[in-house]
Amino acid sequence: MRALELIGFDGPSSLRIAERAEPEPAGGQVRVRFRASALNHLDVFVTRGLPKRPLPAILGADGAGVIDAIGDGVASERLRREVVVYPVASCGTCEWCARREEVHCAKFGILGEHLDGTFQEALAVRDLAAYPRPAHLSWPEAAALPLSFLTAWRLLFTRGHLDRGDTLVIVGIGGGVALAALLLGTARGLRVFVTSRDGGKLKRALDLGAAGAFPSDAFANAVREATGGAGARAVLDTVGPATFDESFRALAREGMLLTVGSTSGPKVEVQLPRLFFRHLSLITSTMGTSREFEAMLRDVERFEIHPIVDAVFPLERGDEAFARLEAGDQFGKLLLEP
Ligand SMILES: NC(=O)c1ccc[n+]([C@@H]2O[C@H](COP(=O)([O-])OP(=O)(O)OC[C@H]3O[C@@H](n4cnc5c(N)ncnc54)[C@H](OP(=O)(O)O)[C@@H]3O)[C@@H](O)[C@H]2O)c1
Repeated sequence: MRALELIGFDGPSSLRIAERAEPEPAGGQVRVRFRASALNHLDVFVTRGLPKRPLPAILGADGAGVIDAIGDGVASERLRREVVVYPVASCGTCEWCARREEVHCAKFGILGEHLDGTFQEALAVRDLAAYPRPAHLSWPEAAALPLSFLTAWRLLFTRGHLDRGDTLVIVGIGGGVALAALLLGTARGLRVFVTSRDGGKLKRALDLGAAGAFPSDAFANAVREATGGAGARAVLDTVGPATFDESFRALAREGMLLTVGSTSGPKVEVQLPRLFFRHLSLITSTMGTSREFEAMLRDVERFEIHPIVDAVFPLERGDEAFARLEAGDQFGKLLLEP
């Protein structure tokens, strides 16, 4: 079978198509034959050696497809089921895994970052990690869900406790987590403002239900004005140093800055008095648990949410999809089809 292999750490030019043996599912596993898989910024980081995985490596956290082989102990009805894959690997036996809090397992890993992932024709995964594909979604839409929607869901609803009527600002709406947060947040009745460096993306976000849209380099005053001077209950900022100061300034008293990423760099300088005099919090998170994956899928079905697909590329042209993501040109997810 064909796989998109990473053979160096020089970005998209280090990707090539290779032949690999078909994976055979072990006990408790199923083999998913992918109909589509999706890129995340994480994959771009790995092509640049962050982290440096042993090479050659197959990237990709997101995938949706059909179960075409099962290992020992898996019910035969699972064959031919259409599924999306929960992209987290964990030990499955520790206290955290038993409580389905996989994000805290000492062996926590993400498909594509810590072990081979979805940018190949098929992959063997735990049967329990293969969830029914939401019926209203196309294959690319289903494959666009796992990592970004799971991450956004946990951050907004488990970690941030956001609820109907709360005001949320999402910084850099072109990002995958950002767009997932817009769709999940508006579906659950949040009042969502967005920012972007690109006027066209701001307009598209307004069409998707954003209550207001502002440039990423100056949005705090606009958010205050739009909220009667109060500021926002929460700001979701995965950009980091380029926008953090503005994000803190956009918050209401006792507001929360929510983050899972730092696309513009790992270090930020924070004006601490600005935080503690206004009782602000910094809330962080990574990915999500299998329970949250189920809850996210339920929301997607209940509100008939359609993830935004920017473009679909054949697996052979995966390097072009990576280059588009790295340049930040996309609005929505970039997909690969084997
Ligand atoms: N911890 C986790 O579990 C987890 C999960 C998912 C993602 N992440 C991290 O979260 C971040 C976002 O990832 P993603 O895949 O959703 O999206 P992404 O491809 O990193 O895009 C994020 C968006 O941020 C904006 N942006 C980037 N650089 C900027 C800059 N210098 N100034 C202002 N805005 C900038 C852009 O928005 P506009 O184009 O609209 O300007 C861009 O589309 C990444 O760092 C990723 O590694 C972490």
